[in-house]
Amino acid sequence: MKWKCFSYTLSELSFTVKGLILAGGHGTRLRPLTFTGNKHMIPIANKPMILYGLGHLYKAGIKKIAIILGPINEGVKETIGDGSKFGAEITYLYQGDPKGLAHAVLVAEDFLKGDAFVMYLGDNLLKQGVRPLINSYFNNGSDCVICVTPVNDPGRYGIVELDSKGLVSRLVEKPSQAKSNLALAGAYLFNDSIFEAARKIKPSWRNELEITDAIQFLLETGKRISVQRIDGWWKDTGKPDDLLEANQLILDDLQSKLEGNIGEACRITGKVSVGKDTLIRRGTTIKGPVIIGENCEIGPDVYLGPYTSIGDNVKILSGEVEGSIIMQDVFLNCKKRIIDSIIGKRSRIESSETMYPSGLKFVLGESTQCRV
Ligand code: TTP
Repeated sequence: MKWKCFSYTLSELSFTVKGLILAGGHGTRLRPLTFTGNKHMIPIANKPMILYGLGHLYKAGIKKIAIILGPINEGVKETIGDGSKFGAEITYLYQGDPKGLAHAVLVAEDFLKGDAFVMYLGDNLLKQGVRPLINSYFNNGSDCVICVTPVNDPGRYGIVELDSKGLVSRLVEKPSQAKSNLALAGAYLFNDSIFEAARKIKPSWRNELEITDAIQFLLETGKRISVQRIDGWWKDTGKPDDLLEANQLILDDLQSKLEGNIGEACRITGKVSVGKDTLIRRGTTIKGPVIIGENCEIGPDVYLGPYTSIGDNVKILSGEVEGSIIMQDVFLNCKKRIIDSIIGKRSRIESSETMYPSGLKFVLGESTQCRV
């Protein structure tokens, strides 16, 4: 056991705590976006979501980090590289078919063995970061620290039951009749005892090695589990609406920055960030929080409403957009109001008003969702 006392400094911790970011999985609930792209590269406020977790790890002093990759990995290595630009050392590990979170831990065993490690689900956003987990690990001498937060729909999550002293009494994955509303949030701290647990458990009804079952095994074999109640918000971005909510939460903390060119008679209110070489044409109204990337063309007379993120090289030549994520290289020219939408890279939406025969014309990928 590496912990000795309560006085570890963060620089000392960087030698004894490693990181594991899970970025495998199929992301079926986010199709069609995940047919061609890794879900963890979907931008939230113009930043691939995996970078939020990575940022939390290195801010907590964790330098050695493994990233678990699954069947589709486009862009992950290109964006993160060897981690040196983030002050981290990144190792990529291939899980292939997603056989569960506890299986991902076993894939990383050789890399992690001998040190405590923080496991962070790459599709989760956790405002508080992971420092409190590490503090709890060292202060309580635990074998495992879990984060919990109350939820309204416990059937969607791994649920933690506590006894009258506040100690963990049971963990259940997606219970049909929940006895508690405390969900496991997407960051955990483990020591080597998790490897034996992951090996001993059996696949669940969905044929995955569940991390919830592995933690239940730790509990049953007398290991010490500490519970960290989350301070601030937590978002698991499994479904499209979750992505939009995560986008809102991040944009709430947006810093205004106007680097592009703003045309005449434009009205910009609230927190708005406009990237380099972006042109906002005359008469355009932007009501923040809104982030716009580099080299975009917006307007004339376009309306961009609150909680909208627009990636690089986007052209919006007419219409309105609100509460949406528009990824890079999108072209929009339709005099319609687009709300609460997620538009993938290189998509085009054009008005059919001047085209004959009139009507809606689509080229849609499998599992596309439209409301017209
Ligand atoms: P999930 O959201 O449970 O699974 P998923 O991402 O495959 O999505 P869906 O249920 O819509 O098909 O995964 C939680 C996180 O863990 C996510 O960041 C992906 C990652 N993961 C792995 O790295 N390996 C795995 O075997 C699984 C199941 C998930």
